[in-house]
Amino acid sequence: MYGASSFAADGDKLFAPCVACHGDKGQGNAALNAPAIAGQDAAYIERQLLNFRNRRRGVQESDVFGAQMQAAATALADDAAIAKVAGFVANLPKTVNAAPAPGNLHNGNNLYQGKCGACHGGAAEGNPALKAPRLAGLDASYIKRQFAYFRDGVRGTDPKDTPGRQMAMMAKTLATERDLDDIIAFIHRQGRPK
Ligand code: HEC
Ligand code: HEC
Repeated sequence: MYGASSFAADGDKLFAPCVACHGDKGQGNAALNAPAIAGQDAAYIERQLLNFRNRRRGVQESDVFGAQMQAAATALADDAAIAKVAGFVANLPKTVNAAPAPGNLHNGNNLYQGKCGACHGGAAEGNPALKAPRLAGLDASYIKRQFAYFRDGVRGTDPKDTPGRQMAMMAKTLATERDLDDIIAFIHRQGRPK
């Protein structure tokens, strides 16, 4: 009764309302501030949907885009629906953002490998064992916004949000906004044809 095809069909139905913002391939839509989610680790997606629903993310007054997603996550019926749609999105082919970001690649590579790669992977591919998501394929404005959220206490402050708190600590270690631009330029070279 619950074969692979019924799983996929349920996932497809649950994913339908997401398409308006995240795109039909889960590729994201920078104009709507909705990030790429296709091919992201299932446990990460599930945890974020639960974070939104349990008011650990997307509830601070300044977080207007998070609030939109908070509403979308709350509209999912229950934990089972969240697990199903997360599995479905995780199985979509990974996408790579079309617009490369400008920055100093040499500095970005050094900083990324020194400060980010140990958790997010040498090519920004993510590391599920460390709960660190894939960063390759995320657009620059989304990465910058989330980084600032972690740094400024908008995301990753809830006592139960252990992975978020870990990232919040890391976000306080970058000296300048320029450094982040350079890191993003490096991230955007990953996963695309050389
Ligand atoms: C009204 C537009 C909208 C709809 C509908 C929507 N989202 Fe989102 N979603 C967003 C925005 C905007 C963000 C970024 C929030 C932020 O900046 O923190 C987001 C963030 C996310 C994230 C976090 C990504 C990350 O890398 O941490 C996940 C996962 C997600 N959405 C999944 C879904 C799923 C699954 C659905 C359908 C059930 C859905 N979204 C429906 C707008 C939407
Ligand atoms: C100690 C491990 C660790 C290091 C080092 C680290 N991160 Fe993270 N990062 C995480 C974890 C874990 C998460 C997921 C947090 C959550 O579940 O909300 C994360 C999340 C993120 C996100 C949010 C992605 C999304 O889809 O919303 C961004 C952006 C990010 N990290 C950027 C960086 C950058 C840039 C660096 C280097 C300056 C870095 N991280 C260093 C562990 C780390």
